[in-house]
Amino acid sequence: MDLKSFKENVIPSFEKEMLDYIGKELTKKEKLHEAMSYSITAGGKRIRPLLLLATIQSLGGDIQKGYAASAALEFIHTYSLIHDDLPAMDDDDLRRGKPTSHIVYGEDIAILSGDALLTQAFEIIADSDESSEKKVKLISALAKSAGPKGMILGQMADIQGEKKSLNLEELQFIHRNKTGELLKFPIYAACVIADATPEIEEQLMGYAEHIGLAYQIRDDILDIIGDVAEIGKNIGMDAAHNKSTYPGLLTTEGAKKALAKELTAAKTNLKMVEQISQNSVNPIQINLLTEMIDLLVIG
Ligand code: IPE
Ligand code: IPE
Ligand code: MG
Ligand code: MG
Ligand code: MG
Repeated sequence: MDLKSFKENVIPSFEKEMLDYIGKELTKKEKLHEAMSYSITAGGKRIRPLLLLATIQSLGGDIQKGYAASAALEFIHTYSLIHDDLPAMDDDDLRRGKPTSHIVYGEDIAILSGDALLTQAFEIIADSDESSEKKVKLISALAKSAGPKGMILGQMADIQGEKKSLNLEELQFIHRNKTGELLKFPIYAACVIADATPEIEEQLMGYAEHIGLAYQIRDDILDIIGDVAEIGKNIGMDAAHNKSTYPGLLTTEGAKKALAKELTAAKTNLKMVEQISQNSVNPIQINLLTEMIDLLVIG
C-alpha cells in the first residue's frame, strides 16, 4: 500500500476517534468543547499521527493500537500551536487556514483550551487499552518530548533567541527541541506499541532525529517561499519577529541544502532498517516511511 492510500484509509477513522475524546468529557454546548474542537478540526496535515501509524504498519503491528497515542500527540501539538500563536508569543492571526483560537474565542479561552488539550492528552493514553508497562513508557516519553526537556525548552530558547543572532549549533538546539522532539515521539511510540527490536528502534530513532530537524528547516523555508493558501498560515512572520532561522543564517538555498542533507541521512537509516530485518521472518517494509521523507522535499 502506498502512503496516499494508507492515509485515506486510516486518517478519517483516527480523526473520528480523536474527536470522540473531546466529546466524551464535555457536551457540545460548552464553550471549552467548542474551542478545543475548533482547533482540532481546523485542518492540519496530521503528520505526527501519520508517522506513528505508518511506523506501526511498517513494523507489522496493529495500527488501531496506535490511535490513542496519536490522538494524545495531536492534542499536544494542537495546544502548542494555540499557545505559539498568542499575542505574547508569535502573535499570529491565521492557523490551518482559519483565524487563530484567540482571534475567535479571546486569549483567555484560547489559553484554557490549550491547557485542556495538553492535560487530556495524558488521560487518553492512561485510559487506553494497552498494557500498564507500555502506557507508562508512552506517558513518560510524551511528557519528556513535550515538556521542559523538549518542546517547551525549544520554545523558550526560540523566544529568547529573538534578541540575539544565533550560530548554527544554537539554532539546531532550538529546532531539535521545539519541533524535533514531537516528531521523534511518534516513531518511539510505534516501536513500543509494535515491539520493535532494539536494533531496529535505534535506526528508526536515527530516522526520526533527521526528520524532526528537517521538518523545522522546511517550516522556516516555507515562511519565506510558502503559499499562504497552501500552508494555512501567514508568511514573513519569522523575519517580522527577528527569529533566527535556517534561511536567515544560511540563505534560502543553503537552508534547502541543509534540508536535503537531513532527508538523505534519514534514508540511510531506513536502508539500515531494511538490511537488519531482511533475514527475519517478517522483514520490515520501509516504503511508507520512505514516502514520508519524500513529502518533505522542497525542490
Ligand atoms: C507547525 O506544524 C509547527 C511546527 C512545528 C513546524 P505542522 O506544519 O505539522 O502544522 P499542522 O499540524 O499541519 O497544522
Ligand atoms: C513552532 O515553531 C514550534 C511549536 C512548538 C509550535 P514556529 O513558531 O515556527 O511554528 P509556526 O510557523 O508558527 O507554525
Ligand atoms: Mg514559534
Ligand atoms: Mg509560530
Ligand atoms: Mg514557523
